[in-house]
Amino acid sequence: MTFEIRTIGIVGAGQMGNGIAHVAALSGYRVILSDIETSILERAIATISRNMDRQVKKGKLDEKGRAEALGRITTTTHLSGHSGTDLVVEAAVEKYEIKEEIFRQLDAVCPPETIFASNTSSISITKLAAGTSRPDRFIGMHFMNPVPVMALVEMIRGLDTSDEVFETVRGVAESMGKTPVACNDYPGFVSNRVLMPMINEAIYAVYEGVATPEAVDQIMKLGMNHPMGPLTLADFIGLDTCLYIMRVLHEGLGDPKYRPCPLLVKMVDAGKLGRKSGAGFYDYSGA
Ligand code: CAA
Repeated sequence: MTFEIRTIGIVGAGQMGNGIAHVAALSGYRVILSDIETSILERAIATISRNMDRQVKKGKLDEKGRAEALGRITTTTHLSGHSGTDLVVEAAVEKYEIKEEIFRQLDAVCPPETIFASNTSSISITKLAAGTSRPDRFIGMHFMNPVPVMALVEMIRGLDTSDEVFETVRGVAESMGKTPVACNDYPGFVSNRVLMPMINEAIYAVYEGVATPEAVDQIMKLGMNHPMGPLTLADFIGLDTCLYIMRVLHEGLGDPKYRPCPLLVKMVDAGKLGRKSGAGFYDYSGA
């Protein structure tokens, strides 16, 4: 048995949240997108509209489809705006305390049948679920950036996620044209358990003077056919997010092989967070 999903709430209108809103609206869902400030929501709608324009220019979407999809998105600065949704996907900042508080508030305003999903890249789904009254209706739905382009949704089962909820959310991901792949709830799941140590090691290579960032990236891009070198990718993801995930791996698995590179820590301390802050391993001030 699966549940019917028509309206999807998305909490957080940053790069992941606006990407999820984009694909959900294009797939015919009504979308309620929330964030704490109107200006963030306005920026998100402008980004979605710009990214849909790319698809129109490429002939992947027509003007009518674009207008209809944008018309399906409503914005709000109140979490209570999600009370009428069938599924809420949380895509807020990657901090346990913030996500826990969001789910506590959602739990109070949403009816018991609403399914909760988190787009967390590393926080325990089981632990987030345990803070709500519905751990059986709680799941990890991890999209990749840029959401409109990347095929994968990593589907994470919490300890108590029911089969019906798993199948429902898997169906939602498929209806968005994505390929859902299942995994269990352990630190970093699969994607970041494999990706982040590679990025961290690339940072160690720079820290130890093995090569420049440009050389590290070129070696991995040309040598391994990666679309982006690991340091360009780290800037794209956000160095603060990379550090947070390395700390989750280090703490959660207790193995020193996951210790974050001191250079990564130093760059985050300096506010060099990558593309979003204008500087990371590369300079984006003119971008
Ligand atoms: N919305 C819509 N379309 C977009 C888009 C967006 N935000 N960004 C790019 N595109 C489209 C472009 O229009 C283009 O379309 P066509 O193929 O039809 O021409 C296509 O995507 C490729 O884009 P570009 O030509 O501009 O640039 P590119 O070829 O260099 O590709 C990229 C850009 C897709 C980002 C590619 O570099 C890439 O795949 N990089 C790796 C991304 C990656 O690894 N993501 C995962 C990060 S980890 C994560 O998200 C999870 C985590 O927990 C940290």
